[in-house]
Amino acid sequence: MISQNTIQQILGRIDIIDVVGGFVKLKKRGTNYLGLCPFHNERTPSFTVSPSKEIYKCFGCGKSGNTISFLMEHEKYSYVDSLRWLANRYGIEIEENFATDEQRQQMQVADSLYIINNFAQQFFSKTLFETEDGRNIGLSYLKERGFREDIIKKFQLGYNPEARDSFTKAAIAAQYNTELLLKTGLVANRNDQLMDNYRGRIIFPVHNHSGKVLGFGARILKTNDKAPKYINTPENEIYVKSKILYGSYFARIAIDKADECLLVEGYTDVISLHQSGIENVVASGGTSLTIDQLRLIRKYTNNLTIVYDGDAAGIKAALRGLDLALEEGLNVKLVLIPDKEDPDSYVNKVGASAFNEFVRSNRKDFILFQLEVALKDAGSDSTKKSEVVNSIAETISKINKAEDFTKQQDYIKQCSEILKIDEGGLHALVNKFIRNKISTQEKALPFEEARSHEENAQKAAATDYDDATFNLLFKDELQEKEFARVLLEHGNKKWNTGLVAEFMLDEILDEGLFDNADVLKLISEYKKALEKERTILNKNLFVYSDDPAISSFAVSLLNFPYEASEHWKREFSSSTGYQKKLFEQSYEDFIRSVTVGNENELMTFLKMDEDKTHIEIESALNYLKLKKIKRMLLENQVDLEKNHTHEEYRTLTQTHEHLKQMEREISGKLGAVIIK
Ligand code: UTP
Ligand code: MN
Repeated sequence: MISQNTIQQILGRIDIIDVVGGFVKLKKRGTNYLGLCPFHNERTPSFTVSPSKEIYKCFGCGKSGNTISFLMEHEKYSYVDSLRWLANRYGIEIEENFATDEQRQQMQVADSLYIINNFAQQFFSKTLFETEDGRNIGLSYLKERGFREDIIKKFQLGYNPEARDSFTKAAIAAQYNTELLLKTGLVANRNDQLMDNYRGRIIFPVHNHSGKVLGFGARILKTNDKAPKYINTPENEIYVKSKILYGSYFARIAIDKADECLLVEGYTDVISLHQSGIENVVASGGTSLTIDQLRLIRKYTNNLTIVYDGDAAGIKAALRGLDLALEEGLNVKLVLIPDKEDPDSYVNKVGASAFNEFVRSNRKDFILFQLEVALKDAGSDSTKKSEVVNSIAETISKINKAEDFTKQQDYIKQCSEILKIDEGGLHALVNKFIRNKISTQEKALPFEEARSHEENAQKAAATDYDDATFNLLFKDELQEKEFARVLLEHGNKKWNTGLVAEFMLDEILDEGLFDNADVLKLISEYKKALEKERTILNKNLFVYSDDPAISSFAVSLLNFPYEASEHWKREFSSSTGYQKKLFEQSYEDFIRSVTVGNENELMTFLKMDEDKTHIEIESALNYLKLKKIKRMLLENQVDLEKNHTHEEYRTLTQTHEHLKQMEREISGKLGAVIIK
């Protein structure tokens, strides 16, 4: 659907640091960049991005890939959607063939939901600003509440008219599929009639943290006891409530800067604070925070400040999930807005600087706050009081000790004072919870795995990654992969009237030499691509293959160190452990290919190229030749052990000598290359 030309343009513009850096806070480390891995939970950064190789790799969890696979993994985009996103970012116009109805229906559901949501958002905004009802009812309501037009536009607010199906009609006219429309929650089916679900409501689009519309909150205008104040998008492929923080798209830069994230309950709280200039704020929608939401916050800061109205029913709900925040290493503070105000009304009343000042001077520590509330609840009931002691001990036990050892000690001290109990006793109780936690964790997660993640993370943190170390850490060395890598790296370079790839592939007619399934697949894809189109053939073709298996393999190869073949060399010099395989090529053919070959021609060509290219191609081929020789020696050995005529025996020993001689020669060359 997207033209090849457009794809090439996009690939030519990709800047992995720019793209990944938009989602992960990256710091320059040597030639690479380092940050906290967005794919697993870590405190020490081990997520490394190499701008020169255009790939990322996490040394903690092992995830790796290129810019496109990052978008696919992190943003849950499809391959095509990632390309669209990049095109949009780099201002590249997408050339494409229009989708037919059938194709439209075949699009992945998630893609379609984004498209419909985008259409809906534009429809609602247009309605708000450009229709009579929109202006008279919707816009005037928002203005009455004090929202400025620029902020209404920034948050892309809209209006869904009272009429039963104005949006539905527009969506049907634009040929959106009914089933999907129902899935978005924008359209409802009442007695076999499609109608707008958010009739007469103000629309708050909910964006993901890269600005795409995941769904909507729709607020009623009239006071109506029967209808809910807000209707929200139902859970679907893209709207997963537990992973959404309203406002994160607009807040992330400010959160990063302030190194603090304010958490409020509602849509209007976020928008009003923004309008007043306080932008490091997101909303949870009034429910308790989930682990995914906490991790989203922790990508930007360790400091979470919850700002709720004093009598919010939401406080208890919000507090419930917060033990998780401690485990995530977040510092949680709590601020309660007084006098039945909420952050929205309060900032409108007192202004930004007074609001900030209030937050600064009224932040309460979350653990101590929780303790006070629980103690008040318990009153003089001694059973309840001992429950409080237990639960606070459990909470304290969740503070991540490695990072916050003194913090844990401080809490034990302060809480025992508040509770008027013996500090040592509370200490022992906390330790009991820690022990329990460790033993359940050990059951849940293979210990070795956890330990190696941690060790890798520490190694990564301690190392300045130059490309060589980057490579070494990533090694999974096999001469076959080295061959494939050289093929990718240099295959498209010219050689005589052809390409290096053609030469290399000719040299290894015998694919029986390859055991690695990925390598075989890549070689066969390469051959196919060569047959189709020789001129555009380059490594990007594989790195950005829409077959994720090939793409990730290609990425891993470009990471694969050519020097790291020491291990392989060792493996090779002992014939034990070397798999016997049937030798398919005839002895004569083989001798010809090894001894005569095209070596002279190759050398002439290679001398014109940069030195490394020549060394790499030669050594990749030599390894394979050596492998072939080893294999023949083994075959010959097996043969020798059988009964033979004197004549046969002599031929076999001569063959043996000949092979040994070649083995020495090639090993010599390889040694010179490897040791350098
Ligand atoms: P609030 O009732 O505080 O709403 O609910 P609000 O955002 O402050 O709106 P205004 O200022 O009264 O206009 C807080 C949040 O709880 C969720 C919404 O996310 C809302 O923003 N909520 C509330 C619902 O999802 N459904 C409801 O019926 C009510
Ligand atoms: Mn409100």
